[in-house]
Amino acid sequence: MNNQGSLKKLGILTSGGDCPGLNAVIRGAVLAGEVVHGYELLGFRDGWRGVLEQDVVPLPRLSVRGMSRRGGTFLGTSRTNPLRDGSPDAVRESLARNGLEGLVAVGGEGTLAAAKELSDQGVKVVGVPKTIDNDLGATDYTFGFDSAVQTATEAMDRLRTTGESHHRCMVAEVMGRNAGWIALHAGMAAGAHAILIPEHPVSLEQVAEWVVSAHARGRAPLVVAAEAFAPLGEAAPYAPRGLDTFGRPRLGGIGKLLEEQLQELTGLETRSTVLGHIQRGGEPTAYDRVLATRLGMAAVAAAAAGSWGTMVSLRGTDIVTVGLEEALGLLKTVPEVRYQEAAVLFG
Ligand code: F6P
Repeated sequence: MNNQGSLKKLGILTSGGDCPGLNAVIRGAVLAGEVVHGYELLGFRDGWRGVLEQDVVPLPRLSVRGMSRRGGTFLGTSRTNPLRDGSPDAVRESLARNGLEGLVAVGGEGTLAAAKELSDQGVKVVGVPKTIDNDLGATDYTFGFDSAVQTATEAMDRLRTTGESHHRCMVAEVMGRNAGWIALHAGMAAGAHAILIPEHPVSLEQVAEWVVSAHARGRAPLVVAAEAFAPLGEAAPYAPRGLDTFGRPRLGGIGKLLEEQLQELTGLETRSTVLGHIQRGGEPTAYDRVLATRLGMAAVAAAAAGSWGTMVSLRGTDIVTVGLEEALGLLKTVPEVRYQEAAVLFG
């Protein structure tokens, strides 16, 4: 007789913007769940939408075969908010109907905030932090960040060769929401002549000076701008596209403004490129695959230990468990010392 009926059941979902490594988390959770803890995993499709609409699939070991290298999330994702679009009771009922002991919620700030609220209302949930932006306070690095930086760096290497051929100034706009981590790391890796981040506003005249100085040395200047960078004197980041479903400004477009203004100030032919969602797509790096797998495994271990209301997190090289409240409220931005370190290389 097979023992499927006696297995404990755990739900898993991926929610919010996708990022490379989500499939590796699911695989880590499924494998550790089955091998170590005697859990059968069930996946909700499209994040909280699947929970509210009972859109659920069994996740046997076979379903995660070869998944750690695949980009995106095979469960799908959405920006459905379980509190705005549903209720703690609806979530509780869905878990009960599927015979689930609890839920692993993989997501960013919005998802973890919802998970915390649900946990306060008695729903058994463990969080796994995810975002390419690397801006969550309670973890040293988020998976997806390394992959985004790798993609952005490769794109900038390409911008440099075309920029050099045409003796142009190239501007690359990268993602990151209100943190400049992707710009800082990819800019440093690509040898940018200026890195513009929201944490450290600078004037356009200063940027133009860096551009002119690099050009004077025979270089094709590369300027990297985080999407939330606002030049000194501007009150807010450029966000002409309204708000997203969590009420946050949809950023983007600063690269084009910089192109126009730098061309005017420097007299150099300038071109801008918005890297956009290319940074979120594609295969995760080896680093992200390992981190994501470990986080998935740790999340199931936390559930098995009854550590509900927590989030798994990277501290140094260890995976630890912290309270969900630690993940929230504290936006991890680039410290001034890291900016100054990079600024030595500008111009
Ligand atoms: O938070 C991840 C992120 O990719 C940000 O860097 C970016 O501002 C935002 O999501 C874009 O969101 P959307 O997928 O809704 O366009």
